[in-house]
Amino acid sequence: MTAEASWAIDVAGLNKSFGDKHVVQDFSIQVAEGRICGFLGPNGSGKTTTLRMLCGLLTPDSGSGTCLGFDIIGQSEQIKRQTGYMTQRFSLYEDLTIAENLEFTARVYGLDRRAERVDRAIARLGLSNRRDQLAGSLSGGWKQRLALASATLHEPKLLLLDEPTAGVDPKARRDFWDEIHDLAGQGLTVLVSTHYMDEAERCHEIAYISYGKLIARGTAQDVVKGSHLVTFHGEGPEVGKLAHELQGKPGVETVAPFGAAVHVSGTDRRALEAAIAPWRKAPYRWSEVEPTLEDVFIQLMGQAEDNFA
Ligand SMILES: Nc1ncnc2c1ncn2[C@@H]1O[C@H](COP(=O)(O)OP(=O)(O)OP(=O)(O)O)[C@@H](O)[C@H]1O
Ligand SMILES: [Mg+2]
Repeated sequence: MTAEASWAIDVAGLNKSFGDKHVVQDFSIQVAEGRICGFLGPNGSGKTTTLRMLCGLLTPDSGSGTCLGFDIIGQSEQIKRQTGYMTQRFSLYEDLTIAENLEFTARVYGLDRRAERVDRAIARLGLSNRRDQLAGSLSGGWKQRLALASATLHEPKLLLLDEPTAGVDPKARRDFWDEIHDLAGQGLTVLVSTHYMDEAERCHEIAYISYGKLIARGTAQDVVKGSHLVTFHGEGPEVGKLAHELQGKPGVETVAPFGAAVHVSGTDRRALEAAIAPWRKAPYRWSEVEPTLEDVFIQLMGQAEDNFA
């Protein structure tokens, strides 16, 4: 095994344009085997395009690298065989039953022991008594779990999941994530795009992309630390009005009401403290808090807009 083989994903300098739109720019990432890497970024930032390049569905305009040790340009067939990809939209057949969907996937992959694999997947899902139910009649959460079962039927080593839990309720999302951690525990590497902060925090590491560029990388803690963001939490009457007044003040980069409190963040501590100074008295109560991932991402989005302009 070569040294790089411990990277399930190891790509550098990926670029992709659609017409004159440069949607992925010099994208480089390494993800070690068995890790769960969260892929975050605003709508249209290039997450889906990147996932498609990694599994060989889309050819990059330039750049190189490997997935599972195979070249992403020349060996995409090998990559596809060992990769499970869950697309952003439900991609199974709503008018086939649970069992039929899985059998169909098994045939497409040309798998051996098809009946056994399908039975095992259904048992693992806990859907043995509903195997003949139409997939279209499942709840959103169950549909996504079925899609995950389908994407892992061929026992891939790499899972690329594109917003797998969008629109799914919290309990079902938790079950889904427990399953992802189970799979990673068995050695699968997972790259999963999401817009949910709680999910970002359940990843071993995260990558944040904006306008096609990777702008933050590391554990959630690293990313929060690397932002150098200072956040104050203020409580008091009419925080909505307070938030409105603080908006746009020098030093205030983001401000957001949270129930009966307001979160004010900025990277220039002195300017931020000066901005909130007029309200730093009764009846308001202020405390400095650790910024949340959401505070950090909102700030990153604001910065990226400035750069783009
Ligand atoms: N086949 C295509 N042809 C033309 N433009 C495309 C194509 N695919 C994607 N784009 C554009 O590329 C940009 C990046 O899209 P992409 O789907 O990768 O973003 P995303 O980060 O997955 O967004 P979302 O969070 O909304 O899913 C968008 O502006 C999109 O309109
Ligand atoms: Mg997408």
